[in-house]
Amino acid sequence: MSSNAVANLTLPLLSGNAAWAAQMNATNSTFLPTLAEAQAPPVVWIGCADSRVPESVITNQLPGQIFTTRNIGNQFHTNDDSAQAVVEYGIGHLNASNVVVVGHTNCGGVKAAYAAGAPTATDSSSHAHATEPESSDTCSRRRSYFARSASENSTEEAEEANDPLNNFLAPLIDLRRALPPNATVLDLTVANVRAGVIHVVNSTTIQDAWAAGREVCVHGWLYDLASGLIQDLGFTTCSDSTVN
Ligand SMILES: *[C@@H]1O[C@H](CO)[C@@H](O)[C@H](O)[C@H]1NC(C)=O
Ligand SMILES: *[C@@H]1O[C@H](CO)[C@@H](O)[C@H](O)[C@H]1NC(C)=O
Ligand SMILES: *[C@@H]1O[C@H](CO)[C@@H](O)[C@H](O)[C@H]1NC(C)=O
Ligand SMILES: *[C@@H]1O[C@H](CO)[C@@H](O)[C@H](O)[C@H]1NC(C)=O
Ligand SMILES: *[C@@H]1O[C@H](CO)[C@@H](O)[C@H](O)[C@H]1NC(C)=O
Ligand SMILES: *[C@@H]1O[C@H](CO)[C@@H](O)[C@H](O)[C@H]1NC(C)=O
Repeated sequence: MSSNAVANLTLPLLSGNAAWAAQMNATNSTFLPTLAEAQAPPVVWIGCADSRVPESVITNQLPGQIFTTRNIGNQFHTNDDSAQAVVEYGIGHLNASNVVVVGHTNCGGVKAAYAAGAPTATDSSSHAHATEPESSDTCSRRRSYFARSASENSTEEAEEANDPLNNFLAPLIDLRRALPPNATVLDLTVANVRAGVIHVVNSTTIQDAWAAGREVCVHGWLYDLASGLIQDLGFTTCSDSTVN
């Protein structure tokens, strides 16, 4: 493919945008100009980067409703400044009143972590051997460096040890190891959402909002790719730090 042909793959996005903007203007000519002045989104969304889970599309929302951060495997960690800053700005400055942590079925990142952290009969130590995931998507295509054995330490594998994707999956792999051996990929998906909710609840932003008497709720949801439906996982907490 020529570089022109590659670059042209973005043309449908630009023509789609032009059509969308015209449609928005035709529907309500003041909506976008008004929204351009200020935003007041009620919800902060912590989701997966997966192209199949575009938050405003699957929830049928117009721009202005969802303040968003998305990453590999919808993770939220104490040391992740990017995700923490989104929650801080969304809740602390834009006055959003809800945070949703949204996992989804068939997540490449979760499946890769599940495989990399899988217990094996021959190895009960923390260095379990990964089985190659069958999926061919981005997250699982690479070998996890956790699968590396000490005897084979090639340059390529040393590079994998510094690979951002592998590094980012490490907490998910640890989470898989903390689950019972017979846990399923779905169990890990749900446990990951629950861990995210616990970390959001524990964040300075949420603790400060509650201390100031604000009503702010944190939720855990699961999006089913095939049906397009979101399920509330029942982790909602609005006032104290106990997550079900
Ligand atoms: C919106 O539509 C009106 C006609 O209804 C047109 O005059 C105006 O230029 C359009 N605005 C934009 C930004 O396209
Ligand atoms: C059009 O958008 C403006 C600004 O958001 C809003 O106040 C108004 O209610 C909208 N009109 C309709 C018919 O929805
Ligand atoms: C958020 O709420 C605070 C306190 O009520 C207020 O001072 C601030 O202007 C609000 N921010 C926005 C963006 O509405
Ligand atoms: C493998 O390579 C990494 C990165 O250079 C190094 O830190 C590590 O000590 C090596 N391990 C072995 C067993 O050689
Ligand atoms: C997993 O094993 C535990 C016992 O270790 C059992 O109670 C549980 O039902 C099993 N779960 C599944 C999904 O098989
Ligand atoms: C909660 O946050 C504090 C720092 O603010 C940290 O020390 C602690 O480990 C966190 N607990 C959990 C369960 O994440």
